[in-house]
Amino acid sequence: MRIGILGTGSMARALGEQWERAGHEVAAAGRSRGDLRGAAEHGTDAVLLAVPHAAAVDVVAGLEDALRGRVLIDCTNPVGPDFALLTAGGPAAAERIAAAAPGARVVKAFNLCHESVWRLTPPVFAGRPLAVPLCGDDEAALTVVRRLVRDLGCVPLHAGGLDRSGLLEATAALLIRLWVAEGADAQAIVPPLEFSGA
Ligand SMILES: NC(=O)c1ccc[n+]([C@@H]2O[C@H](COP(=O)([O-])OP(=O)(O)OC[C@H]3O[C@@H](n4cnc5c(N)ncnc54)[C@H](OP(=O)(O)O)[C@@H]3O)[C@@H](O)[C@H]2O)c1
Repeated sequence: MRIGILGTGSMARALGEQWERAGHEVAAAGRSRGDLRGAAEHGTDAVLLAVPHAAAVDVVAGLEDALRGRVLIDCTNPVGPDFALLTAGGPAAAERIAAAAPGARVVKAFNLCHESVWRLTPPVFAGRPLAVPLCGDDEAALTVVRRLVRDLGCVPLHAGGLDRSGLLEATAALLIRLWVAEGADAQAIVPPLEFSGA
């Protein structure tokens, strides 16, 4: 696949290197390095948005024409320094991004884990591959992102449409606070499936 990455920071490098290892052609650009438009245009199969939440809508709006029809993977977390959910009471970050580039096929993914997790080859814990929830409305776009999830050695999970992406963002805010402020084993809050009531 041809993958463009908007951003050259921690997430761009962690995921980009994995996808290069899997044989994909990756081109990344950030604010001070490379050409953002060139990276968006390179991503004929998928474009990963890996810039800070505060910059995301402006970056995407400026590339609206280049992103038309593209699978746009949003891994941003609208979480403030005090672990606040910065979008509380309004649309999710992924919905704001989709509104800024209405032709893009947005999928929320990869926002729940630290970049160090995405560098693992593969991210398997206690023998169990990491599950990656995806939210999106475009089935073909979800199929592309599922493949990119499997290329990391992870398992894709369908988490609903883009209208549920705010739940993934709120989950990140919850988890990051538990990990960073409490030093808690946040994985322990979820019981095994047989105790889920399903
Ligand atoms: N780090 C994690 O573990 C992690 C995990 C899950 C999700 N996320 C989310 O992933 C996103 C990226 O995080 P990161 O840790 O990779 O950030 P990072 O290391 O700080 O990198 C951010 C990138 O965005 C670029 N950028 C910043 N402002 C920009 C602008 N106005 N226009 C264009 N490019 C701009 C930066 O370019 P310059 O370097 O040139 O300024 C840099 O390449 C964030 O939304 C974050 O919430 C991060």
